[in-house]
Order: sequence, then C-alpha cells, then structure tokens
Amino acid sequence: MRTLVKNIKQLVQTENKPQRWVAGKEMSKLGMINNAYLLIEDDFIKDFGGMEQMVEKNVIADKEIDALNGLVLPSFCDSHTHIVYSGSREIEYIDKIKGLSYEEIAKRGGGIINSAKRIHQASEQELYNSAFERIKEIIALGTGAVEIKSGYGLNTEDELKMLRVIRRLKESTPILIKANFLGAHAVPTEYKGRQTEYVNMVINEMIPSVAAEDLADFIDVFCDNGFFTVEDTDRILNAGMKYGMRAKIHANELGFSGGVQVGVKYNAISVDHLEYMGDEEIDCLLGSETMPTVLPGAAFFLNLPLSPVRKMIDAGLPVALASDYNPGSSPSGNMKFVMSLGCINYKMLPEEVINATTINTAYAMGLEEETGSIAVGKIANFYITKPVTGFEFLPYAYGSNLINKVFLKGKEISI
Ligand code: NIG
Ligand code: FE
Repeated sequence: MRTLVKNIKQLVQTENKPQRWVAGKEMSKLGMINNAYLLIEDDFIKDFGGMEQMVEKNVIADKEIDALNGLVLPSFCDSHTHIVYSGSREIEYIDKIKGLSYEEIAKRGGGIINSAKRIHQASEQELYNSAFERIKEIIALGTGAVEIKSGYGLNTEDELKMLRVIRRLKESTPILIKANFLGAHAVPTEYKGRQTEYVNMVINEMIPSVAAEDLADFIDVFCDNGFFTVEDTDRILNAGMKYGMRAKIHANELGFSGGVQVGVKYNAISVDHLEYMGDEEIDCLLGSETMPTVLPGAAFFLNLPLSPVRKMIDAGLPVALASDYNPGSSPSGNMKFVMSLGCINYKMLPEEVINATTINTAYAMGLEEETGSIAVGKIANFYITKPVTGFEFLPYAYGSNLINKVFLKGKEISI
C-alpha cells in the first residue's frame, strides 16, 4: 500500500544520511524541503522531495493526501514519561502553591509514595485503561514514540504489574513504546530507615523477576539528594547490566548528586533532569554516548532552577527535551509546549527544539534508526499541521493545537 502526501509547505527534519543524534552547532540546522511530497509504502518512508520532482518522476500511489499547504514534521519522540499511574495529585499541587517544596511533600508521605499507594489498590485492567487514554491523548498531540517507566510499585508484585501494563500497551497501540524499570524511584514506607535493605531487594528480587519476563528495555534510578545515593545507583546499574538492561537515569534534579558521573560510567543511554550541571558534569558527558536530557515541564511545574542548556550546547553537547509526563512533577505530555518552554526558558532556537524533541529523544530511547526524522526506510510516523507560516510558528504559538492529521506506521490515526 502506497500513500502519497502532497502539497506540503515545508517538509521538516529531512535527512539523506541519517545521524544518531545532533550536537553543538549542528543542533541549529534542520534539513527541510519547501513545497514537498512524501511517499509512504506500508509502514515506512519510501521517498520524498520537491513537488516538481514528484511530477517529473511521475510518482503514483494507491492513496493521495493533500496536505493543503500544512507542514509535515516527524512525530515527537518522548523519551521520559511515567504515564502508568492511578489518580492525580492536585492536592499536592495546592500544597506547592502554598509554598511546600517537592522534597517536603515527599517527606510527608506525598509524592511518589502517594502514587505507590494508589497503584497498589488499582487492578492491572484499571491501570491499562487509564494509561491507554493518556496514550491516545499524546498521539493526538503529535507523539509517535514514548518511553514509559515503572516506579510507582515499589514492591516486586506492583512493579511487575506496572511493567505488564506497559507490555500490553506496546502490543495494543500504534505508538512505539520502550519500557524502563524504575524500582529505585523512592524508598517505600515499609523500608523507611532501611534504604540499603530496599536496594538489596531491588537487586536480588526485582531485577531477576523483571528479567525473567523480559519486561524492561532500560533500568532507572532516581539518583538525587534525599533519594538514592551514587553508591546505591552504582550497585543497581551494575546488577541491571548483567541482565542486559541499559541504564537511563534520573540525575541532578535536586542537587549535584553525582548522578551524571555514575550514569556515564555505566554508559547510560541518557541522564535526565540536569537542573544542577557544572563544568565537571559537562566535561564528563563530552565524548560519551549518553544523551543529556532536560525535562522543561518538570522545571516549569516545580519552579526548579533551569538547566544550563545554552552552555551545554555551546560546549558541543547534544541536548534532548522530553515531557516527564507524570502526576507529581509534570502532569502534561504536550511536546509542542515542551518545545515552547525550550525556546522561552532555555533560549533554544526553534531548529534546536525540533532536533531536541525528535532525533535526540529517539536516540535517548534507542530508536534513532527507526524514527526521529524524515528519512527513507524509517517508520512513517509524522503529523501534518494546519496551514501556518513555517516551523518557527509551532513553538511560538505555545497554546494552539496546530495538528491537522497524525500518521503512525504509515496509517492515519483518527484524533
Ligand atoms: O521525573 N524525579 C523523580 N521522579 C519523577 C516524579 C515522579 C512523581 O513525583 O510522581 C520525575 O519528576
Ligand atoms: Fe521522571
């Protein structure tokens, strides 16, 4: 089955020679064709070019879609989310408005512990249903690949329950999904004051059980002040590695935790959050294969200090931007808004935020060969916008939904 999309005002993020990621000055460059067509065959991108070429080559297809002068962009890749959860946490939101910090809320049994209680009470079916709705929501917002973490179970049975929900979502939705095991997200109430014993349990019981059912692509630790130490993280990543789980970790959100260094030591695919980044952390990442990933929605929602993104890019690093969609620190999976925050708060250019939310996040979830750009042979995950002036308009018009049509694996999805 061949589908031809024609009359595209700008076909954005095209690549003739696909790259694994883009870094430094390259982040401000975007491949682009004006007045373009895109040819899809089954699930994949078959060809693309200018409209004159389409006529010259006499491109034919089973189905034609008129983009009506809208833009076409590759779907967003959201490489950091926690979208399997039960219940929202707006009561803590009010506490935050009244002045409590994220750490204070966590100490009072709110935060992750609050979500863990609710996960325990919810059935697998209930969790699946609510996460399915969130998947539908983010697909309509232009996301075509998503990483989803466990981490609200905090005991073996409930962590497995979350990961089985993620597996069912993988099997039953058209979006690309990667699963991340985050047993070390917080110390559960039963283990209060016995953090090392909890870490031992993660290593000796949880990791082998997760591996036995092959439920996780990655392994995560919240390596930060008041949560897990570098030593805990080192032990957990080492244990995960033995089962083939690549590290992808939460680091330096609440302080200079050493999370970046331990992540790079284990060749983590990404280190995420990065509000606290000095020269040492930047130097450590340079030359590594670890993607520095910033979560602008969490920093916005929690009023955290801003990660020094400009300094990182100017030093030659790549930067990825993901949503961190979760009930506590970022209750939104809107990647277009993430792009706007990238521009407004972090002084990134529109070209940079497009690279940061597509090819760099694809790399941060091990999907750079499949998605993240418009390239021949990649999966046909893309969206068509309403008629707009150009790609710069997308992060600029921060509150408008500009998506007209969404295609995943070459098929139009009703949104
Ligand atoms: O990425 N920082 C740690 N974990 C999540 C928050 C989870 C929660 O508050 O429920 C995050 O922001
Ligand atoms: Fe997170």
